[in-house]
Amino acid sequence: MEQTVRDLRRPPDLVFLHNPERSTNGEPLADACAALDDAVRAGLARAWGVSTWDPRPLLPQLDTTTPRPTVLMIRSGLLVPGPVLDAADQLVHRWKPTDVWGMSPFNASPHDPVWEAARPQVFLTNPPEGCTPLRAAFRTAYALPEVSTIAVGSDNETHLRELLGTLSWGVDYGVVDRYRRLLRARSPQ
Ligand SMILES: NC(=O)c1ccc[n+]([C@@H]2O[C@H](COP(=O)([O-])OP(=O)(O)OC[C@H]3O[C@@H](n4cnc5c(N)ncnc54)[C@H](OP(=O)(O)O)[C@@H]3O)[C@@H](O)[C@H]2O)c1
Repeated sequence: MEQTVRDLRRPPDLVFLHNPERSTNGEPLADACAALDDAVRAGLARAWGVSTWDPRPLLPQLDTTTPRPTVLMIRSGLLVPGPVLDAADQLVHRWKPTDVWGMSPFNASPHDPVWEAARPQVFLTNPPEGCTPLRAAFRTAYALPEVSTIAVGSDNETHLRELLGTLSWGVDYGVVDRYRRLLRARSPQ
């Protein structure tokens, strides 16, 4: 983080602890979070967060002493397995981050035939003209699970504009709830 401040010539707005569930050195989650908390206090970043691909291994490590992140970033979208969605909900409920962001709404596979087959438009209240499966999947990802911001990968300005244009579309939360119930029935906890 010290090197980053030198490279950027300013403290970054946000630094993520990346996939702590894959920590191979056995460092407790609370210690890693405390180190980031200290770094923010020392002025090395404006805030810190945790980005997790699979929150399930983090749940047993969480206790009242674990410092709270400003942002918790979790997988979002229709390709997230049901048990991962449920664990993300639990993590948000117990850790109470200031903000929850989603990531990788297409699971990095925008050409997967699943997007045509699954018809993500059914998750929208009133899909407008020009609502492609990918655009509908992106909008729906804000509700699976509930997130305020999504990190999506793109090198294409037109793609980004297409995605931004979906933010005013309505999500049918009744359909989202039914989908979550179906996922739970398919893979009971
Ligand atoms: N913590 C973790 O383990 C972890 C893991 C993965 C990702 N992440 C985070 O999540 C972010 C996004 O994930 P990601 O890039 O792997 O996957 P993604 O956002 O699900 O998918 C990116 C792909 O979608 C395409 N795409 C985007 N908009 C499109 C559109 N409107 N139409 C057609 N194709 C479109 C992009 O191609 P074009 O370039 O052609 O638009 C790119 O190939 C990453 O930058 C990272 O911050 C974190």
